[in-house]
Amino acid sequence: MKSAKIVGLGKYLPAKRLTNKDLEQMVDTSDEWIKARTGIKERRICSKGKGSSYMAYKASEIALERAGIKPKDLDLIIVATITPDTQFPSTACYLQDYLKAPNACCFDISAACAGFVYGLTTAWQFIKGGLYKKVLVVGSETLSAITDWQDRSTCVLFGDGAGAAVLVDTKKEGFMSSYLGSDGSQADILILPGGGSRQPASYETIDKRLHYMHMKGNELFRIAVRIMVQAAKKSLSQAKLKTSDVSLLIPHQANERIINAVAKRLDIPLERVYVNISRYGNMSSASSAVALCEAHEDGLIKKDNIVVLDAFGGGLVWGSCVVKWA
Ligand SMILES: CC(C)(COP(=O)(O)OP(=O)(O)OC[C@H]1O[C@@H](n2cnc3c(N)ncnc32)[C@H](O)[C@@H]1OP(=O)(O)O)[C@@H](O)C(=O)NCCC(=O)NCCS
Repeated sequence: MKSAKIVGLGKYLPAKRLTNKDLEQMVDTSDEWIKARTGIKERRICSKGKGSSYMAYKASEIALERAGIKPKDLDLIIVATITPDTQFPSTACYLQDYLKAPNACCFDISAACAGFVYGLTTAWQFIKGGLYKKVLVVGSETLSAITDWQDRSTCVLFGDGAGAAVLVDTKKEGFMSSYLGSDGSQADILILPGGGSRQPASYETIDKRLHYMHMKGNELFRIAVRIMVQAAKKSLSQAKLKTSDVSLLIPHQANERIINAVAKRLDIPLERVYVNISRYGNMSSASSAVALCEAHEDGLIKKDNIVVLDAFGGGLVWGSCVVKWA
């Protein structure tokens, strides 16, 4: 039976840091509040004119190098992003051009913070079905471009970055299961309302600040904990595993309190949960991608380990996948 395994990981974080102290100068907030309520200390900001495709490119170069795979050998490039360079062409097409990967077909996935898990699952299924053999999956976000820097309830939370994974076919270890879900009836909880076909960009949408993210943080918090617990349990049971089998849980990095609550309810000790939110904030689809890459770089993922990704975001969307590390 054919499966897919990850053979290379990469990340890119822009050099510019925005600390909580910097934010104190911009809105009515404090380092203490941000750390206590979210766990975030600083986040990175992409330089002007360099969007999500550029960061995706820098992360992908590293992932491909580590995989020992040349761009021209890629069959498929998937970029998960809610901050594409342009509405169209897709960010994946721009990435293809940066990489010089003429033999790949390319598309974006819009699944907010669950985008990387959606992308990995899509790549796995394409490989399992036999259509493609070598696939690049990237989570890349320039959230600073859609953040309202006058709104203290959101601007302290988000950051920019990218993470990339190269998947190839295998007959042995690799992806074991995936559980994805969505609930479009709760779209308003986390949304960028302006600039799309329903409310095209206009002076009015700009005046009303509709081209920025709007979030009902309190409501999201409760739903996020419940759904992330449920998603991890479902993907584990599909793989015929228990939470005690998990070597490393890589949760989406939206809020340290959400991560702690999820770990507690899953009965997974925090030593087996990867957390880097203090350094980067919430990078949407890039969060899981960067966390997976860093956990691997830190030597926390070894052969035969059971790694569980678990993400949740605006849509609503959620997803969890189980990988036996090859
Ligand atoms: C956003 C979030 C950090 C807010 O934390 P919270 O504990 O729920 O805080 P609340 O929104 O209830 O606000 C509490 C108070 O802090 C204030 N506050 C909000 N942001 C603040 C800030 N940056 N600095 C200082 N005070 C702030 C609020 O105005 C409120 O004041 P009030 O009680 O006088 O009205 C939290 O709800 C969260 O992380 N939600 C989920 C986010 C998420 O999952 N997002 C994306 C999914 S991918």
